[in-house]
Parts: sequence; C-alpha cells; structure tokens
Amino acid sequence: MQPFRFLAAGVLAVLTGPLMAETDPHSYAQPQMVSVRDLKLDLDVDFAKKELAGSAELALDWHDKAARTLVLDTRDLDIRSIEAIGADGKATKATWTLAPRDPIFGSALRIELPSAAPAVRIAYRSKPEASGLQWMTPEQTSSGKHPFMFSQSQAIHARSWIPLQDTPSVRFTYSAHVKAPKALRVLMSADNAVKHALDGDYRFTMKQAIPAYLLAIAVGELDVRETGPRTAVYAEPSVVAKAAKEFEDTEAMIAATEKLYGPYRWDRYDILVLPASFPFGGMENPRVTFATPTIIAGDKSLVGLIAHELAHSWSGNLVTNANAQHMWLNEGFTTFVENRIVEALYGKDVATMQLVVDDQELRTEIAKMKPAEQLLVTDLEGIDPDEGLSGIPYDKGRWFLRFLESRYGRDVFDPFVRGYFDHFAFKSIITDDFLAYYDANLAKKHPGKVTQAELDEWLHKPGIPTNAPVAHSKRFDAVDAASKAFLAGTLAAKDLPAKDWVTYEWLRFINALPAKPTLEQLGALDDAWKLTGTGNGEVAFRWYVATVRGGYVKARPQIGEFIGHIGRRKLVVPIYEELAKTSEGKAFAIEVYRKAKPGYHPLTQGSVEKVLGL
Ligand code: BES
Ligand code: ZN
Repeated sequence: MQPFRFLAAGVLAVLTGPLMAETDPHSYAQPQMVSVRDLKLDLDVDFAKKELAGSAELALDWHDKAARTLVLDTRDLDIRSIEAIGADGKATKATWTLAPRDPIFGSALRIELPSAAPAVRIAYRSKPEASGLQWMTPEQTSSGKHPFMFSQSQAIHARSWIPLQDTPSVRFTYSAHVKAPKALRVLMSADNAVKHALDGDYRFTMKQAIPAYLLAIAVGELDVRETGPRTAVYAEPSVVAKAAKEFEDTEAMIAATEKLYGPYRWDRYDILVLPASFPFGGMENPRVTFATPTIIAGDKSLVGLIAHELAHSWSGNLVTNANAQHMWLNEGFTTFVENRIVEALYGKDVATMQLVVDDQELRTEIAKMKPAEQLLVTDLEGIDPDEGLSGIPYDKGRWFLRFLESRYGRDVFDPFVRGYFDHFAFKSIITDDFLAYYDANLAKKHPGKVTQAELDEWLHKPGIPTNAPVAHSKRFDAVDAASKAFLAGTLAAKDLPAKDWVTYEWLRFINALPAKPTLEQLGALDDAWKLTGTGNGEVAFRWYVATVRGGYVKARPQIGEFIGHIGRRKLVVPIYEELAKTSEGKAFAIEVYRKAKPGYHPLTQGSVEKVLGL
C-alpha cells in the first residue's frame, strides 16, 4: 500500500469538496460498486444453541450500473438461503458462493443479483463460536438465574453475527425485530425504551446511519435506573444501584460536551454495565455505551471512561474513520475530548494528572515498539486490527491535537474542532480529509503557526516529536518527592502523604517503583495501604504487575481472584505477561487460566493464550 503523504496545498484546495476514497484493507466489500443503505434484522436469540437465527435484509444503492455482484463480509455464519428482492417486493432465489475462511478476515460472501436489485434477504444463523458474541451460562452471571449474551462488533466482528459490508466507510440505518426468552431484556444500539415490557418481543429502529462496527445487542437479566432526562443505567440487578450512583454525572458530561462541540445528536445516552467478562473498558455503541463493571470504583475516579465513550458520540460515531488505518481520527480526537470533559467536570488538576500519566506510559510503550508501529497513520494491510491496538492512536493522537491547540490557542482551536464535527457529521473520512479541512479552516486563516514538516512528523514519523507540549502537575511534585524519599528509605510507607490521594496519584507512585521492587518495599506498602485486593481496577493491575516483578507471592490469591473473573484485556493481559516470565509464575497463570477460560470472552481467550503460548 502507498504510504499516505501530506498533499500539496493546491491539491488540497481542490479536494475539500468530495471525500477522499481509500480501500479498507479489512473488508472484502466493494462499496464503490454497491453499498448498503439500510439493514432489517429479524433474529431469534437461542441460548440453548448459542445462536442468533433469522434473516438480514439489506437495501442497496448501486453506484456501478454494470455491477451484478454484491460482496459481503462474514465469519463463521451458517448461510441458509439468499433471495433478491425486486422493486415490486417479490423475492427470487439468488446464487451465491462462500469463500474459504481466512483466519483474520473470515469468508467473502459473493451474491449474484439481477441488475440494480433494490434489496437482498439472507437467511442465516450465527455459530456458538461467533467472535463478536459472548454467550454466558446463568452460573457466569451475578444472580446465577439467567443466561446472558452480548456483542462486541468493533473492530471486525459484526460479520460474525450479521452478513454485511463490515467496513466503517459504509454507513446505513437499521431496524430489528428480536425475540428472546421472556424475563430477559434486549438492548440494541438503537431506540431502547426504558419502560419496555419484559415480554421477549423487541423492535428497534436506528434512524441515523452508522457503520457496522457500531451494531450492538445485549440480552440478559437487566434492571434499569434513570439518571436524568435522557440518561439511564442498565445493569444486572445486584449492580444497578451502585452503577447509577457512580454514573450520576452523565447528564452534566453531555451538557459540558455540547457546550464545547455542539449538540448531542443521538437522542438518549444510556450506559449498559456488563458482567466483568466484557473484554474492553467501554464500547461507544450509539445510544447505549457498553461498559465494564471494573470502572465502578465507588468514588467516580474512573468515570473518565464514560467521558471517553460519550465523546465518541462526536468523534467516531458522528465523524468516523473510514478504515482502521486512520483510527487516530476516532480514538485520538475522543481521548482529547474525554480530557476536556474531565477538566470541565472535575477540574484542571485531575485532567492534567491524566495527561501526565498517559504521556509517560505512552513513552514507556513506545520504547518497546517497532518504528512502523509508532505512526499515527498506519499501514494495516493483512494485519488483524485487534492486534494493531496500542496507545498510538489514543495518546499520540491526542498529543498531536494538544500540539495544534498549543500553537493556535484554545479560543481558535475549540471552534475549529466543533466546525470539523459539523462539517463531517455522519461521514466516514481519512486523514487527508481532516488535513484538507485543517488547511482551509485553520492553517490558511492563521498562517505561520505550524509548518508542513511539523504536521508530517506527527502523522508519519515514529516517536513523539520534540515540539510536543509538556503537561506538568503540581500535585505530582508532591507524589514524586514522597516516592523518592520512600525509595531512598528515608520515609516509611505508612508516612506517605497518601490518605487523600486520588487514583492518578497512586498510578504515578506505582509507576515510579523500580523495575524489581524489594519484598520489604512491597510488604510495607501493602501493610500500610492495603493495595492487594483494592477495588480500583487501574490501581490493581499496575500494583499486581509490580508484585509479580518483586516476587511478592503474598498477593497471589488476590491476583488469581482478579484475573480469574475479570475479562477486560487491558487489566488482565499485563499480569499474565508478567507471570509468564518465570516458570513458576507461568504455571500459576496457566492454572488460573484453565479455570477462568469458560467465563472469558473469545477475544480475551485469544490474547491470554497467545501470552501463555497455549
Ligand atoms: N472503541 C474503543 C474500543 C475498541 C477499539 C474496540 C478498537 C475494538 C477495537 C473504546 O472507545 C475504547 O477506546 N475503550 C477503552 C477506553 C479507554 C481508552 C478510556 C478501553 O476499553 O480500555
Ligand atoms: Zn475509544
């Protein structure tokens, strides 16, 4: 693939009109010939068979009038029959072939259709091993009474439960009719009704066009608590009250974001708290963010994650990266907006501490990465987008935007970002689209602030440019002084000024521990501050990694408990990695994994098995 170059200014001016096209390396679809405009799902949720069974009807826009073939993405789908739907609504059998399964991309489904067929209907079933679904037995839920199922479609798992064009360059509206066992609630990334009867019969509509990776479904024993006029929290009954309290600031977050970047365009913003096996921290499914319960710390200290998923309602769900190579447009902008929301709600101190910790951790991560992996705009041809996940699109992406903000000033940069969201609303774009807009609306209007070489370095060179703005936290000065004294042996663990430390101060302190802390250091810290067994997932995983490095085996039972029931990859994979470095640690890790495996999401199973060489 051609590396993406910054276009010459004259070319940019010409290109500010139409969006720039680029092939998505992670999809077999050919949307330049024909694209999906609308999806109608009709699905039965069968827990006994662990399958979704029914049909998907795709309404088509033919761009190439000579084209007859519709290519869809699938993975492990059982295709039953395919019909072309004529303008008169009549169905006729279509011929189709399913290509051999590629381990990363699945099987292309090629359907031959009459000229300009308005729609196609596919009868199909998902398989129990669908990579985008997790089926849980009653014993794996908190009440133990009912089974549970949820989807995680990003990056390319929608194709494992719906045949479609699984590329974010295509947007479509959808509706769904879903039947599930009575007593269970069905939620989708659509117009959920807070007061829906638990009658097992659900109808959804999503009137805004979205990319496939934002299709989502969850079915389980779910209670609901309203937290505002357009916000609610859904969770298992034992979790819902705690969750509603923790996330009570959601309406204030939406209001703060609207003030900065324009109206919230998705009507409701609900949060679904999933069982602990959810493989991510959060997923920005439109109208209903899916979230891990590990952010319920009791003191709102981890609700920045909700700010992050909410921010995607602008950066990602509204303005969407056209393929994963431009993921920084989604995650970098979102991480930037997230920090602004945290600043608006919880103050500059907290927001700055987040920047300092993230910047430092990004530098540590970069030190272990190959140069090609450090680029904001990447070449992911042939690469599984789940493997490409790193801090680069997130934290380097945000850093680039902070750099621009520092040069142009907030007074100019905030309205620019708002204008960008408005301009590209409901579009899928690549970095060159952003650059064209930037050139016309920022660079040309305020010349001489940023050079092309600087832009080029941020977007297309490894590492962090030396012109990156440096965040400084005064509160961390105090943490650093205490940490130095503790490590020098002149301050006892119990005398650390940590009584009122918030999460980020603990992260700063733990990150400053030596590569191999001594048993005395770890024991004294644990005795004084009870870090082992903490309910704060962010503190816990960093602390557990430190205990493994220092050989502090006293923490093992709690480590086993933590990685045994949590499926969030960010929290458990680093612990498995550290354990795997010694034969004794690896044996312990394998033992824990064998027990935990049935409760893990397929994505987490894959990541852990890779680390443990299973
Ligand atoms: N959209 C991402 C999750 C994702 C990214 C799933 C790529 C699959 C492929 C989500 O918004 C996210 O970034 N989640 C983070 C939250 C954190 C950065 C606050 C997570 O899950 O840790
Ligand atoms: Zn995100």
